[in-house]
Amino acid sequence: PFNLRNRNFLKLLDFTPKEIQFLIDLSMDLKKAKYGGYEQPRLKGKNIALIFEKASTRTRCAFEVAAFDQGAQVSYIHGGSQIGQKETMKDTARVLGRMYDGIEYRGYGQAIVEELGEFAGVPVWNGLTDEFHPTQILADFLTMIEHGEGRQLNQMSFAYLGDARNNMGNSLMVGAAKMGMDIRLVAPKAFWPEPALVAECQKIAEQTGAKILLTEDVDQGVKGTDFLYTDVWVSMGESDAAWDERVKLMLPYQINAEMMAKTANPKAKFMHCLPAFHNSDTVVGKQVAEKYGLEGLEVTEQVFESEASIVFDEAENRMHTIKAVMVATLGS
Ligand code: CP
Ligand code: NVA
Repeated sequence: PFNLRNRNFLKLLDFTPKEIQFLIDLSMDLKKAKYGGYEQPRLKGKNIALIFEKASTRTRCAFEVAAFDQGAQVSYIHGGSQIGQKETMKDTARVLGRMYDGIEYRGYGQAIVEELGEFAGVPVWNGLTDEFHPTQILADFLTMIEHGEGRQLNQMSFAYLGDARNNMGNSLMVGAAKMGMDIRLVAPKAFWPEPALVAECQKIAEQTGAKILLTEDVDQGVKGTDFLYTDVWVSMGESDAAWDERVKLMLPYQINAEMMAKTANPKAKFMHCLPAFHNSDTVVGKQVAEKYGLEGLEVTEQVFESEASIVFDEAENRMHTIKAVMVATLGS
């Protein structure tokens, strides 16, 4: 039997379908064990560094609670370190690798987490980069299975709408290709993933039977799908100046009641990695609402709060899946 001990978790492209399925299955086991009160701590005595160069609620808390449940201890590193200011990531990797048993990194370019992974000498986990958000995909796929009425991933279809060029669009495409799913990236052409990544995923799809459609045609894109997925139109690290163009271009891809109806599937579910702009009750949400006269952006309040919305299942599953990644790569 294979195991993932001492592996980095930097992007789904590095993992086989079998390994991804193994991580999802392990998440289910760990979730059941926690619910049942029989969880076994397999990270006892481990020290874990959590580096966050961008904001986070879910990912940070998921890593911390997962570590605590499994008997590990964490350091949250968010500002105040030498990283990037006076010390390179290569040197940081070799320092932290002498003290910690595992390192999570959330930040900017994928190249940074790849360098950390190359030089740390301990497992490194990607907690989101500009290009990829692989732990989120594990949570999303676990959530799809839970709502899939007994179906496997390769029997499911979903549409991802909006900014398909960001970390979520990229990672969902890779994940779907690996797991043999039917994915439609429904977005303005300028916001489709990089052609090189699309080509790589198409090649994977030939092996796995996945179907990958890139389209600007909303009707064709969402028809018959089991899940509609969206994400913010402007991601962390991008300029606020991008909003003007994005709002104009992306509005036809907003997930609203009409869009849900276009699936022609009364059981279709709504998904979002969160945080979401579905009303004007946040600082940024208020600014955007006032400027553009919109109450929700990528999703309306109505859909977000509807029975079809499974966003908080996804959020919870971040913890179970991140726990699986840590246990698989670092557990005793
Ligand atoms: N979905 C997600 O990564 O959320 P956070 O930014 O709160 O970690
Ligand atoms: N695309 C979003 C995802 C947040 C979880 C961002 O990078 O800001």
